[in-house]
Amino acid sequence: MIHCEGLVKIYKTDDLEVVALQGLNLTVNKGEMMAIIGNSGSGKSTLLNTLGGLDRPSAGQVTVGKWDLLKITDEQLVQYKRDTVGFIWQNNARNLLPYLTALENVEMPMMLSGKLDRAYARQLLEWVGLKERMHNKLHQLSGGEQQRVAMAISLSNRPELLLADEPTGSVDSRTSDMIMDIFRRLNQEIGITIVIVTHDLSLAGKVDRVVAIRDGLTSTEFIKRNPNLDQAAEEVSRGIGGLQSVHEEYVVVDRVGRLQIPKDYLGALNIKDKASMEFDGERIIITAPKSLEG
Ligand SMILES: Nc1ncnc2c1ncn2[C@@H]1O[C@H](COP(=O)(O)OP(=O)(O)OP(=O)(O)O)[C@@H](O)[C@H]1O
Ligand SMILES: [Mg+2]
Repeated sequence: MIHCEGLVKIYKTDDLEVVALQGLNLTVNKGEMMAIIGNSGSGKSTLLNTLGGLDRPSAGQVTVGKWDLLKITDEQLVQYKRDTVGFIWQNNARNLLPYLTALENVEMPMMLSGKLDRAYARQLLEWVGLKERMHNKLHQLSGGEQQRVAMAISLSNRPELLLADEPTGSVDSRTSDMIMDIFRRLNQEIGITIVIVTHDLSLAGKVDRVVAIRDGLTSTEFIKRNPNLDQAAEEVSRGIGGLQSVHEEYVVVDRVGRLQIPKDYLGALNIKDKASMEFDGERIIITAPKSLEG
């Protein structure tokens, strides 16, 4: 579904260039439900906005389905956003209309694209558990309920790919569990591919695969040991330790053999710009450069 290789995104402001993605690699299969984690400023939203067609990539390769997002024309981009992707924003208030009802909010984008389907709009609101609240105005709903309206809206165009930026960022843990369960059900029942950005590690146990981004690069990958083990989610306590108990951890090696070594490891060995590497037949051992000592 998604293939990024050496993806670069540079934001240019007046006298400053920010390299938000520095050659990122990522592959997501059709029907997968995966999460992207990383610290604030690591490039998560930039990646999602690029995949969602909201930001233009600067260089590298990025394809989603049949679309090459580097070469896509402006007209095709409009079509891509309308037909292929659904998007849940980090701050969802910007695509909700407070004085319309939940149902009207879901119908609005359908009307704008000329494909109003009232029955489907109702069904979406049922899916997200808002059957009883669909005739309430948005400003009469709680934050968590509004977030679920945003989920329904993101599905209104029947997208193949759903991108969610911190969908549980501002809700309590019960609502957050409910939102994750809705994602899981949608993924299983309609087979939609889902990419969720979060910095909440406790959510990571609820997806099959977690990719960690550090400084605009994919650094570590966690793959669930037993994908059928749903109660595994409960074993995940907060923190990376919990993630490791359910997921197998891998360091990402790109096609030309580069990998990213965590800063703590480099710091612990005082490795700056060079290291020694040995291969003993089974392991590759990286050490501080011996020859430079003394
Ligand atoms: N429109 C922009 N113009 C200039 N710089 C930007 C822009 N958007 C993001 N950046 C910069 O790019 C880097 C990555 O930002 P991004 O929003 O992708 O981070 P993030 O991982 O989503 O962080 P958070 O967890 O806080 O949401 C940051 O250094 C940020 O300041
Ligand atoms: Mg962000």
